[in-house]
Amino acid sequence: MKKIINSEKEMYKFASQLAKKLKGGEVLALQGELGAGKTTFVKGLARALGVREVVHSPTFILVKPYRIRNQKIIKTLIHVDAYRVAGGEDLIFVGLDEFFQDKDTVMAIEWAEKVKKILPRARTKWIKFYLGKKLNQRIVQIKD
Ligand SMILES: Nc1ncnc2c1ncn2[C@@H]1O[C@H](COP(=O)(O)OP(=O)(O)OP(=O)(O)O)[C@@H](O)[C@H]1O
Ligand SMILES: [Mg+2]
Repeated sequence: MKKIINSEKEMYKFASQLAKKLKGGEVLALQGELGAGKTTFVKGLARALGVREVVHSPTFILVKPYRIRNQKIIKTLIHVDAYRVAGGEDLIFVGLDEFFQDKDTVMAIEWAEKVKKILPRARTKWIKFYLGKKLNQRIVQIKD
């Protein structure tokens, strides 16, 4: 599925539609160049799931968990930025791979292709982000 997104607001809407389909335990592998909209998507996802905290780009902290209070199953959103991660071993080192099994956790990983080999294949949903032709245009592609 390929979708053209024409504004930041539309990106939030796309994220919230996707949030409704989540059952818990998913790893959202976000791929795409700088500024393509990965963090913006996670902000929309967090908002849709009911996260009250402000979501920032986790580039300098690598991993940021957000508590979710008003959902039946999903209790935590874990935002990861793998931009500076070398090969996935770093994430295993911090124990992040343990969360891959949690049914009450959704993970959103920016630059996921860098840590592809440690991702649980069956639970991982790849979402690709591209810059569009126009200034505020982005294209998202989900493997189906
Ligand atoms: N349609 C759109 N969807 C998403 N972001 C948009 C859109 N139009 C404009 N923008 C802007 O583009 C920028 C996207 O930045 P964002 O941090 O989400 O990208 P990123 O993919 O996370 O980049 P990085 O790899 O640096 O983390 C933001 O400044 C956002 O306001
Ligand atoms: Mg980002």
